[in-house]
Amino acid sequence: MASTQSEFQALRDRHIPRGASQSTPGFIREARGAILTEWSGRELIDFAGGIGVVNVGHSHPKVVAAIKDQAEKFIHTCFAIAMYEPYIDLAVKLNAMTPGDFHKMTMFVNSGAEAVENAIKIARYATGRPAVIALDGCFHGRTLLTMTLTSKVKPYKYKFGPFAPEVYHMPNPNCYRCPFGLKYPSCGVSCADYLEEFFVANVAAEQTAAVIAEPIQGEGGFTTPPPEYFGKLQAVCQKHGIVLIIDEIQSGMGRTGKLYAIEHWGIAPDLITTAKSLGAGLPLSAVTGRAELMDSVHPGGLGGTFAGNPIACRAALAVLDIIVEDGLLAQAEALGVKARARLEAMQAKYELIGDVRGKGPMLAIELVRDRERKTPAGEETKELVRLCYERGLMLLNCGMHGNIIRTLMPLVITDEQLDRGFAILEESLALVSAGRSDAKR
Ligand SMILES: Cc1ncc(COP(=O)(O)O)c(C=O)c1O
Repeated sequence: MASTQSEFQALRDRHIPRGASQSTPGFIREARGAILTEWSGRELIDFAGGIGVVNVGHSHPKVVAAIKDQAEKFIHTCFAIAMYEPYIDLAVKLNAMTPGDFHKMTMFVNSGAEAVENAIKIARYATGRPAVIALDGCFHGRTLLTMTLTSKVKPYKYKFGPFAPEVYHMPNPNCYRCPFGLKYPSCGVSCADYLEEFFVANVAAEQTAAVIAEPIQGEGGFTTPPPEYFGKLQAVCQKHGIVLIIDEIQSGMGRTGKLYAIEHWGIAPDLITTAKSLGAGLPLSAVTGRAELMDSVHPGGLGGTFAGNPIACRAALAVLDIIVEDGLLAQAEALGVKARARLEAMQAKYELIGDVRGKGPMLAIELVRDRERKTPAGEETKELVRLCYERGLMLLNCGMHGNIIRTLMPLVITDEQLDRGFAILEESLALVSAGRSDAKR
């Protein structure tokens, strides 16, 4: 087999389709905490966290111990065939930890997309209505239904149609690029009130099963709604008996300094989807929500062969222990303050940064060619990611035009690693800003 990065790359190119994409040339040998070690032995500071999956850090010892312990007991029975404790323990914990002082239930599946699919199945079943409203700029996955919900065309939807029926999109709350051309707070957060108008021109409220939204849009560019948004949206949903599904797949499990990002808006949704950092790298996702909705579906209507795998559930139980016992939420909040200060200082220095936004350490900078017209600086952002990688920082972009850099570093990153990461980001930003991105170190 291969022994160098270039040999691995040759094998990858020959045997793996390019549709399963690659954003850096890195092949990883080991990962711990917030450090990735490449095949060559070179270390990278990880600001990407495998797309927000390792909030507790790579290979956290408590997660590894739980995985090993469970693997020695049993690996799979299928919960629908022979039940086991880790599934139940995890459901009990998530039911208690999600916002909302009401009876909740949880079911597990494997990926984020699968959790979203199931949340929509449940909402449709419970309401007897077909339509689902998502927000422009959203990302909910790559399966047929979730790809239909997802709003970015290339690469996610292009040439993959026809799409699933009864999915509608309404404008999202994006204060930096308001789709209504208004300014907060004088706008009165009319983007939420617009849902009533949406029923007039797009789909009837009484035909709508669910409204689905990310608290902070992940792929879409970390667009962060104003404080009043979700309260208003929920009030309209409640008025019409529509299920409000909050997709916490990227924003949950401490990412914003709270266990669930929606806590920043002070509402308790009907259904919440989680995945990514829930399993610390093992494939696991959950739908948690109102018992009367969750329990409405007939036996056998939900589930799957691998759904709620015992090893993945044990990993997730370890994640929840780490969050509580290691004070990870306070750590995340402190990290967010430090990271925001660094990004805002860069914004003051570099015209290229048009906006800094997010909550806690779930932060983003939007790169624009000119601050007045806000022309997306997509190519510059791509170059910035490349330069950072060359200098030892793994960075992820996002947004409709790929011109947004997001921070998804493990919450356990040390101050020294964080400083080093931001120093690399700033050095690379200076080069891109000066149009000298071909400069070598
Ligand atoms: C908010 C959100 N929902 C759903 C998904 C889909 O998750 P998965 O890739 O595990 O199917 C993602 C993935 O990035 C996400 O960020």
